[in-house]
Amino acid sequence: SAPRITLVGATGAVGTTLIRLIEERGFRYRDVRLVASARSAGRELTVDGRTHRVEALDTFDFSTTDVAFFSAGGAVSRKWVPSAVAQGALVIDNTNAFRMDAGTPLVVPQVNAAELDVRPAGGIIANPNCSTIPLVRLLRPVEERWGIRHAVVSTYQAASGRGHSGLAELAEASSITLEDPAATPPATAFSPALAFDVIPFIDELLDTGFTLEEQKMLQESRKILGLPHLDVTATCVRVPVMNGHSEAAWIECDDVVDRAELIRLLAAEPEVTVHDQDTPGAFPTPRTAGNPDHVHVGRVRVSPRNPRGFWLWLVADNLRIGAALNALQIAEALVERGVL
Ligand code: A2P
Repeated sequence: SAPRITLVGATGAVGTTLIRLIEERGFRYRDVRLVASARSAGRELTVDGRTHRVEALDTFDFSTTDVAFFSAGGAVSRKWVPSAVAQGALVIDNTNAFRMDAGTPLVVPQVNAAELDVRPAGGIIANPNCSTIPLVRLLRPVEERWGIRHAVVSTYQAASGRGHSGLAELAEASSITLEDPAATPPATAFSPALAFDVIPFIDELLDTGFTLEEQKMLQESRKILGLPHLDVTATCVRVPVMNGHSEAAWIECDDVVDRAELIRLLAAEPEVTVHDQDTPGAFPTPRTAGNPDHVHVGRVRVSPRNPRGFWLWLVADNLRIGAALNALQIAEALVERGVL
């Protein structure tokens, strides 16, 4: 019968998106529990027309949960996922906490769903980083057809990746700056303030000089694609967009790439829309791309000087494709396989 599900971080930007997707996609469950911090306990949220009270994580019992979605940040997952697993729940974790653990499958269902054929021994399935997910969905068919020598990526990441507080801070800083361009708006979620600026720094700085966000794109792409030597290098940039990540990627292959074939190949991928660059203005942006459950591709350019390489532009809803939708598609695939 249908699984009993628990959403941890149900009040957050990813959690509320997950609730909407469960409704939109008609995901079947026997019971749904909503969990957040003690601050939110008692708050009421609606799922499929039914009202549910939010419960506090620190006293929550996972023994009657079949699958728990964790979207409350890495520290919360590190602290609470092990006890949820010990109490018998299968955890789909949206955070960075367990992604690179050897025993934890890191899954994008359109790429490596075979990882979901059996229940993982460690009880955790990790959901990749929001910029990695759409990228690997496009790299996979390219790798199979032409082989990838290396990929160089710049990201343009939206404020919603920082949750509700990121969205609120961008809105507030924008109006403060419009009122007074010389003002110094509050900068807690982002530093400096994100309004009317771009910030080439996401997550923490590593000894290598790369940020953790940039390192995730390399390590996670390798793990998901099963290519331990894949060369992906990135600059991750926060931009004053409310929702929807974009990426500009230069991908150099082992063989010469035919543009028409490349476009056919990408367009044939599930839930990918290619915007034809021959139509003026037909490029995707976070606000205009269309179907938020698709990866949108545009500006596909094979280099005339080096026809083994090409540029593309992609746009993907980071709360959906980059987080909640990928997590739910993992659960759907587990149900389909009888694992859940
Ligand atoms: P709460 O709303 O009670 O703070 P966002 O990514 O939008 O910032 O949301 C983060 C989510 O994680 C929210 O649902 C938030 O709940 C939850 N959360 C944050 N800290 C904790 C915690 N210590 N225990 C449980 N849930 C937490």
